[in-house]
Amino acid sequence: MIEESEKGWLLDNGLVAYALRVGEDGVLEHLHFGGSLGSLAGFSAWPRQAYRSLQIDDRGKPFRHLGTLAQELPFFGRGDFRSPAIAAPGLDELVFESARKIEGGLDLGDLPSARFEGAETLQIRTVSRHMGLEVVLSLTLWPGHPVLARTVTVRNISDRPHLLDRASSLSIDLPQADRHIVHLTGSWAREMHLQRHRIETGRFSFGSCRGTSSAQHPPFIALTDTDTTELHGEVLGGALVYSGNHETVVEKDEFGAVRLQMGLPGGMRWPLAPGEAFIAPQALLLHTDRGLGGMSHGWHDFVRERLLPERREPYRPVYLNTWESAYFEVDEDKVEKLARAAKKLGCEMLVLDDGWFKGRRDDHTSLGDWQADPKRFSRGMGELARRVTAEGLKFGLWFEPEMVSRESDLYREHPDWIIGADRDRPGEGRNQLTLDLSRPEVEAHIESVVASMLREADISYVKWDMNRFVSDLDDAKRAHLYMLALYRIVRKLRKAFPGVVFENCASGGNRFDFGMLCLFDQTWTSDLCDPEGRLDIQSGASHFFPLSALASYIGPSPNHQNGRISSFEARRDVAFFCGSRGFSLSAEELEAHASSVKETAGLYTSTQSLVTKGRFDRLRTGAEIIWQLTSPSGDEVVILYARKRSEPNPPFASVRLRNLEKGSAYRMEGSGELWRAESLMVAGLPMPHTDHRANPPLMKALPTGDMATALLRLRRV
Ligand code: DGJ
Repeated sequence: MIEESEKGWLLDNGLVAYALRVGEDGVLEHLHFGGSLGSLAGFSAWPRQAYRSLQIDDRGKPFRHLGTLAQELPFFGRGDFRSPAIAAPGLDELVFESARKIEGGLDLGDLPSARFEGAETLQIRTVSRHMGLEVVLSLTLWPGHPVLARTVTVRNISDRPHLLDRASSLSIDLPQADRHIVHLTGSWAREMHLQRHRIETGRFSFGSCRGTSSAQHPPFIALTDTDTTELHGEVLGGALVYSGNHETVVEKDEFGAVRLQMGLPGGMRWPLAPGEAFIAPQALLLHTDRGLGGMSHGWHDFVRERLLPERREPYRPVYLNTWESAYFEVDEDKVEKLARAAKKLGCEMLVLDDGWFKGRRDDHTSLGDWQADPKRFSRGMGELARRVTAEGLKFGLWFEPEMVSRESDLYREHPDWIIGADRDRPGEGRNQLTLDLSRPEVEAHIESVVASMLREADISYVKWDMNRFVSDLDDAKRAHLYMLALYRIVRKLRKAFPGVVFENCASGGNRFDFGMLCLFDQTWTSDLCDPEGRLDIQSGASHFFPLSALASYIGPSPNHQNGRISSFEARRDVAFFCGSRGFSLSAEELEAHASSVKETAGLYTSTQSLVTKGRFDRLRTGAEIIWQLTSPSGDEVVILYARKRSEPNPPFASVRLRNLEKGSAYRMEGSGELWRAESLMVAGLPMPHTDHRANPPLMKALPTGDMATALLRLRRV
């Protein structure tokens, strides 16, 4: 996969290719990232240079300007005025020293990374001799994936201290072209909304300084041609394998060339003592010419095979969660009663959410005191778990280990353990303070309290929540050390309790990123479970996350976040498209919908492997949303048809299905109709209609009213 010639290096796995070379004065020049090239023989897209007035001639050569050169490790100080990838006071050269190929990848220490088995890595060492700074660029390619990883390691090889201001894991220069940026924006309960706009001349950046990767601007990007669609056209995808502060920069220069960077935010002033090194988080780059849908397939396969923790038992039990039915009003009788009802209706796990620990009555108190509240759980968590499991259910428990309430034993004992302890009035979010995980004693404490609860009670699932942004921390090094400690804690817990499923939650999707995915089995997608809102959120998420990494439940109606009333069926159909599914309904609501709940639990259990392993396609997005989920063998297909707004006298919709095996025939569940794959893919499948007489015989009819959905199931015969 890695070829070296007099023209430079080519990393090419037949799906994607990345090429670079050493230019004059040892500067690393970027040549290509995109489709496979096969070889550099005959490759002619060398960086072009021309005389440009006012440019700074590089070391006396009038036709050479770093300011327009496509580079791998751009720095400031010698005529490149675009955003630098590496910045340190005094840095004005990075000269090629050596290169080596390694099997596998670079050990990133505590940082999460894609698994390297079978991969090959090219490491290129550059140095600033006069400063005594070494920068190593690592490029990793895997067979069978259109994905490449990139990271940099910066080491102080001098005998005096240095400051590192910026070390962008990803920095590539793309040739002049009209392009779009696609990225995600959002907020609490409306995460993952896709935004697309033209790249204009100038610098566009987004990121997070909130201590989490954030729902506002998660670390994902796609650069597309302006005519790229869901199915066709070039896409260059980028993602950072990191969960804290980050920054993405897209800069289009006066000649239309684009620099794309992803990494920790610049200006970090990271002290590097002699001999010390800084490893930047891993960035991933993806290329496809099959549109945004092709990009999603590339990420889905890569995330499933290389990022998500490997498990012996990938099965996700259908669960009942206490949050939206009980909030903080939980006690052992209520939980046992819910467990019995849940079991009767076909659920497989009971999850006790917030409210179970010492003194917790609302969100003002008790975070940090992770023992069962003796008043409401007098028999203790071990006994409650025994009773729930005796009903034939697994037991799951909620934690928010990174946080502490002022009103708690932990805070009274260790007021100095919080971020902002040195300030007059540290900021509170949801009435809580953040523990300073960069302190080793805090890290050890968190690991030990969670571990001791996991030892005390038979817990199969941990919902690891985090409900505020981190303020009062303007020290980039401590913010990064916080993240490394978090990764270490979870890694150790996973090792000690390999059977436990860990769910990542940060008020829903505030840490929706590939870093968390390396350590958590799934992510709580959003606190909004209203099906209409979830359609957009899950659509956005599906651009990067496979369904197996997402979690959902059927919550109450009217929805507690936006007040919208929705049918049970609409909630069931949208929640279907997540790997981990369940309910958050009270005993009364469960009873009122008993037969639907039972039927749904059966549907969810019988389609577990389909949602975790199947291929997901967005067939239509807009007022009508149509999704297709196809089992790996192609034997089973589920289509979601959702119409957000009811209209009188609606048109007939039909949709072309994708990726079925030609020559196969499919039977529609319910109506029994038979379709040929060619017909489904070329002529299309008619969608349900509100005029029942208009539907083909017995085919599912669409209910009237807003937010009408139908699940259509086809089986190969
Ligand atoms: C925020 C989460 O997203 C919710 O699901 C719930 O667990 C609450 N926190 C509990 O405080």
